[in-house]
Amino acid sequence: MKRRGILVTGTDTGIGKTHVAVRLVRALKSTGLKVAAMKPVASGAVKVGDVWLNDDALALQRAAGLDIPYDWVNPSLFRMAASPHLAARVEGVVVDLNRLVEALDRLAALADCVVVEGVGGWRVPLNDDEDMADLARRFDLPVVLVVGLRLGCINHARLTAEAILDSGLVMGGWIANELSPQSQASQDMLYALEEIIGPPLLKMPFEPLQGGAVLATNNHIEIVEILRLVAPSASI
Ligand SMILES: Nc1ncnc2c1ncn2[C@@H]1O[C@H](COP(=O)(O)OP(=O)(O)O)[C@@H](O)[C@H]1O
Ligand SMILES: [Mg+2]
Repeated sequence: MKRRGILVTGTDTGIGKTHVAVRLVRALKSTGLKVAAMKPVASGAVKVGDVWLNDDALALQRAAGLDIPYDWVNPSLFRMAASPHLAARVEGVVVDLNRLVEALDRLAALADCVVVEGVGGWRVPLNDDEDMADLARRFDLPVVLVVGLRLGCINHARLTAEAILDSGLVMGGWIANELSPQSQASQDMLYALEEIIGPPLLKMPFEPLQGGAVLATNNHIEIVEILRLVAPSASI
């Protein structure tokens, strides 16, 4: 059976993939779907009690709220916050894509759709021979590109969109993520991107931090286009 879900990739690391993926999980859940979330490979771990965990994976696991073990959400975790193939090398292991595909299928079997957050950018190496694009090909989900609206993003967005298409995958669309309060500069970038790669599926507003927590300025996000990607036959 065809897997249902999306793969969230980004123009870079630190541009809002987790932020957006968590909000997509919540919004999809609010339509009544059973949503699983996955961070197949993560580098950078914190020790909680006796176990090592990754912040992104924890945020996704919490958002999905399914009663499943952590390592189903994040089957491949490295302690060092470095490119996964480098972090894996330090631990003397090799990222095995087959294991990750099995983990995805396990989640896909128990949920209506799976929101997967990729690692870093599109061509980040996962082992000596394979990179994020190879994993995306194996996962075979529509790809959603998160563009963090900051200087340099037009170039990164064009390069990544071209690379996704070169990988032979369906580019489901892109999401404009405001990394700072909306400004003339961020609007100009958005308009430029609209002209070059088409209108975004979603515009994610900047959500300022208050008291250390992100304030939900926009609890309701319009996810009709995202729903079309994850559940084409669902009526909404
Ligand atoms: N729309 C937004 N509003 C407020 N803060 C954001 C937004 N998008 C991202 N951030 C913040 O930017 C930082 C990087 O985002 P994150 O989602 O972790 O990026 P990535 O997953 O691509 O590495 C985080 O501190 C996150 O809270
Ligand atoms: Mg992340």
